[in-house]
Amino acid sequence: MVSNFILSKTPRIIFGSGKRNELTGQVLRYGNKLLVVTGKSSLLRNNKGMETIERLKESKVDVQFFTIGTEPSPVDIDKAVYENVAFGPDAVVAIGGGSVIDAGKAISAMLTVSGGTIDYLDDVGKAKHPGTKIPFIAVPTTAGTGSETTNNAVISYIGDNGFKKSLRHENFVPDVSVIDPELTLSCPPEITAAAGMDAFTQLVESFLSLKSNPVTDALAIDGISHLIRSIHKAVQQPDNLPAREDMAYAAMLSGITLVNAGLGVVHGFAQPLGSLFNIPHGVVCGTLMGAANTITLEKILKTGEKSVALSKYAKLGWLISRREDAEVSLAETFSEYVDELTEKLKIPYLSKYGVSEHDTDKIVSLTGLKEHPVKLTSEELKSILLERIIH
Ligand SMILES: [Fe+2]
Repeated sequence: MVSNFILSKTPRIIFGSGKRNELTGQVLRYGNKLLVVTGKSSLLRNNKGMETIERLKESKVDVQFFTIGTEPSPVDIDKAVYENVAFGPDAVVAIGGGSVIDAGKAISAMLTVSGGTIDYLDDVGKAKHPGTKIPFIAVPTTAGTGSETTNNAVISYIGDNGFKKSLRHENFVPDVSVIDPELTLSCPPEITAAAGMDAFTQLVESFLSLKSNPVTDALAIDGISHLIRSIHKAVQQPDNLPAREDMAYAAMLSGITLVNAGLGVVHGFAQPLGSLFNIPHGVVCGTLMGAANTITLEKILKTGEKSVALSKYAKLGWLISRREDAEVSLAETFSEYVDELTEKLKIPYLSKYGVSEHDTDKIVSLTGLKEHPVKLTSEELKSILLERIIH
């Protein structure tokens, strides 16, 4: 028996080391006026990324640039649209980390409509985006958010009344994603670790999700298998290309699984934490993943019943240990593995970013469970946060 499911569109995916050389050919399919979106500093230390841009400049393509410094705000997107609407690009290419790809995705969508970006954000604006856009090509230089295969762009405004919301439409999935793991070789260890934990969280949350389906389960398991064998290596040995390939592959799959199966409580926390504090998304995921899984598993075990979630946790434990054992024992192996990995990768505590015990009630009140397999109480949510706050 196979349960019913719907699978959303994916980009045309061009994956492999050296595949950045196909970018110009992909761009020319759409025309010769190109808007290139990049990060401010990250690209400068990425020789292969700079080389890719040089190659575009040397081709017959008329290129305009827009740089984005941090996670994109509605004002950043509006500025890019204002500066480039008269240029009328035939395609938008984003070369960078998840924030840069989100920015490019949003710019390609906002170039075709009037009004400000804020008007179209989920739960913030009242306007509904028709799904029109300029063709969009994503070229990731980190392995983490999976934005290269998702249909939403995360737009943030950080502060007391901050938000972290999506500009979303099925059509916003990139037309093409050129995923060249060599472009991630220059990614520094702490960003490799945090981005990798984001991909890991996304794969695990979509696997455990109440909305998972047979296809997302298969993709999540394959992504997790590749990720667990390489995340530590990619952090410790930045030049290890096979490890970078595994991470880029896992991140790409995590985007597909999250679009189709949804996410869980760690991403529920990521919205308020990322909007109230200046804390990278990957760090939120990496720092909370261990405690969130431990408390979720404890709750599952308290019922004493067999459940889909327990079997899935056991499957994850088997992936780690390849050991034949009772479900409970395998499930605990997974939870312990995540805690050890968090330590080994030196994922920072929330305290480093100014989060204190006094903030927990506000954060919990703004946290949604998303498609988490188990209902967690406010007290349980608070205890997840306190595990990662130094007292
Ligand atoms: Fe994420």
